[in-house]
Amino acid sequence: MNDCRRWIYRKNSTSYDLVAQTQPVPSPDELKPHECLVAVRAVSLNYRDRIQWRNLAGRNVDGKVPASDGAGEILAVGSAVSRFKPGDRVAACFFPTWKSGKFDLGYHQADLGGNLDGMLRDFAVFDQDALVRIPDGWSFTQAATLPCAAVTAWVALVRRGNLQPGQSVCVLGTGGVSIFALQFAKLLGAKVVVTSGSDAKLEKARQLGADHCINYQEIPEWSKSLWDWSGRHGVDHVVEVGGPGTFEQSMKSVAADGHIALIGVLTGFGPPTASLFPLLARNVRLDGIYVGSRDDFEAMVGFLNSHQLTPQIDRRFRFEQTPEAFEYLESAQHFGKIVIEL
Ligand SMILES: NC(=O)c1ccc[n+]([C@@H]2O[C@H](COP(=O)([O-])OP(=O)(O)OC[C@H]3O[C@@H](n4cnc5c(N)ncnc54)[C@H](OP(=O)(O)O)[C@@H]3O)[C@@H](O)[C@H]2O)c1
Repeated sequence: MNDCRRWIYRKNSTSYDLVAQTQPVPSPDELKPHECLVAVRAVSLNYRDRIQWRNLAGRNVDGKVPASDGAGEILAVGSAVSRFKPGDRVAACFFPTWKSGKFDLGYHQADLGGNLDGMLRDFAVFDQDALVRIPDGWSFTQAATLPCAAVTAWVALVRRGNLQPGQSVCVLGTGGVSIFALQFAKLLGAKVVVTSGSDAKLEKARQLGADHCINYQEIPEWSKSLWDWSGRHGVDHVVEVGGPGTFEQSMKSVAADGHIALIGVLTGFGPPTASLFPLLARNVRLDGIYVGSRDDFEAMVGFLNSHQLTPQIDRRFRFEQTPEAFEYLESAQHFGKIVIEL
């Protein structure tokens, strides 16, 4: 029997090593009735993969395959599969059991690249309900960027944010979530403020339509620049990926009756350093966002099938270069996404 490749996390004294392994190719004959065998073609990395790898959240992922995000082709289906057929081009959902409706804490017990094996492997078996068709005409490399970063940005701005044309959005930094949020917001007719620690990245954001760019290294109190630019109104939506270290500036940036989508922990997991009083003084809506459901993913794919959006892929790595790809993620040199091709 042929062998196939995978990477796993292996616990060391403080965090995890990335270890390459081989194992037998899953047999199509062993598929359960509702399962699909997927040949994974591309995987994208998220900051979350760094959190697991460096053990920043104290989670046990020993022996698990990293990475929630990947796209590939269905090779075989079980006897009762009705949603897909061999040859279909699919991506897996971050939460394989969250099909629709409200979030349930049980979904968090089954997250790809966390409690469940992720996508950094040649072959994976999924229940048909855990898969979605990728957008028409998208390559596997492009589609691999979608399941976590893009769905999160979509839910933050569209389902939870109800973003309207003419509104304004602020995105923090130029990583995966923020650049998808910038692209969605522009396609939906919003004005967008982008912050970054790099002028070169801000120039790239400008080319994607950013209306106002602020270097947060040069201007730590960047909300003042945003406030002046907005005519002392603030922005209607903040895509808050920074966490405790950026939350004060986000609260000072949001407009009265505005919306903060609380998403990330780029500055750590601690409490905010500032008073939360501006939230009530401005009648702000604060939404905690944790990716989204399969319905959200499919709604987003519908949007991508009718709008022109090119995912921003900073760099591609080969499967064997996975540790280098993780190092590159950690260096935070990227703009948008990092993809590993199989
Ligand atoms: N809740 C959820 O469902 C969910 C889903 C996805 C991601 N997240 C979280 O959201 C955050 C972003 O994830 P990602 O995968 O998009 O990250 P990423 O692609 O690794 O982006 C990293 C970028 O963030 C920017 N950054 C770092 N520190 C910053 C700061 N103090 N202020 C502003 N920007 C800063 C930098 O951009 P510049 O170089 O341009 O400054 C850096 O390159 C992470 O904390 C991740 O865990 C949460």
